[in-house]
Amino acid sequence: MTRPAPKRFGVVGTGFWAETCHGVALAQHPDVDLVGFWGRDAAKADDVAGRVGGRGFGDFDEFLDAVDAVAIALSPDVQPTLAVKAAAAGKHLLLDKPLALNLASANSVAQAAQDANVASVVFLTYRFDAQTAAWLTNMRELAELHGPWEGAISRWTGSIGPDSPYAPSLWRRERGGLWDWGPHAISVLDDLMPGIERVTATRGVRDTVNLAFEHRGGASSSASLTVTAPATAAGTLLVVWGPGGQHYLPPLTGSYVATYRRAADQLLDSATTGSDHPLDVSYARDLVAVLATGDQYLARPPADRIAEVATFTDHPS
Ligand SMILES: NC(=O)c1ccc[n+]([C@@H]2O[C@H](COP(=O)([O-])OP(=O)(O)OC[C@H]3O[C@@H](n4cnc5c(N)ncnc54)[C@H](OP(=O)(O)O)[C@@H]3O)[C@@H](O)[C@H]2O)c1
Repeated sequence: MTRPAPKRFGVVGTGFWAETCHGVALAQHPDVDLVGFWGRDAAKADDVAGRVGGRGFGDFDEFLDAVDAVAIALSPDVQPTLAVKAAAAGKHLLLDKPLALNLASANSVAQAAQDANVASVVFLTYRFDAQTAAWLTNMRELAELHGPWEGAISRWTGSIGPDSPYAPSLWRRERGGLWDWGPHAISVLDDLMPGIERVTATRGVRDTVNLAFEHRGGASSSASLTVTAPATAAGTLLVVWGPGGQHYLPPLTGSYVATYRRAADQLLDSATTGSDHPLDVSYARDLVAVLATGDQYLARPPADRIAEVATFTDHPS
């Protein structure tokens, strides 16, 4: 049984990503009416709406009354509370990563979406990027032909300098690459190999966190994550290997607006058909579970997480 497609979308947030990605993509979408933007600062919401479309809202209840679906581009410590309210009001959810910064908050959104039977999609850029999606399909076919992938290493290295649009972002400064890049890394590793069952973690310089994963069935992978690398060292690398050879993740090529458009299309489809999307709020919750486990591991005293090398001398080169 199909349901009516949501048409009236509102963007929650007035920051860089709310405006340039969610807002612009929804304003251009032929099957969507962009109703406007909600922000904690109503003047900012008016400004962004003036540039992109719709009107500004300062009252969240009034905003919810005006829409069928919300696109949330907020700091992830704030996203859960507003997503729960939106779901409870029967609004479909186009969420961004990470869903939350702790498991309890992530669970609350997943539960609210399930209780209200609303559709949800989380915008995991790599999974909606056309070239990455084609590469992942190819990797799946190779694994079916030759046998499952056995391992992968990855590195997601950002460099948020003073001129970056992400420079004002407090949560990125506080929670670093683990929570900013982590969802992207895991969303790709998880598509290559079965679900992650165990996590260990070490810290490096700046905000670097190195995660090591054991996947169901025995494969393993790793991710080095930072948002504060030297500007000359920024980049993404992922190589997967197994009986089908070794293969490198291609770089992102599409514009993020076009990529987001695919996520919006898939939310419309999921809302209409009533079928759960594979990258829905419960998937986003599972990503948070992995990241929170990494965080918990890092919170252990060093002696409980790192085997110290008993004797090691600095060898002159
Ligand atoms: N999928 C991707 O590739 C991708 C790329 C970039 C960003 N994102 C995600 O998009 C989201 C937004 O990112 P961002 O870069 O724009 O910056 P951000 O620092 O994550 O969020 C900024 C937005 O959150 C609002 N905000 C912060 N605290 C608030 C509070 N207590 N109440 C209400 N609003 C609050 C800010 O409002 P004010 O303007 O009033 O301060 C601003 O609108 C994040 O979840 C991020 O991870 C995803």
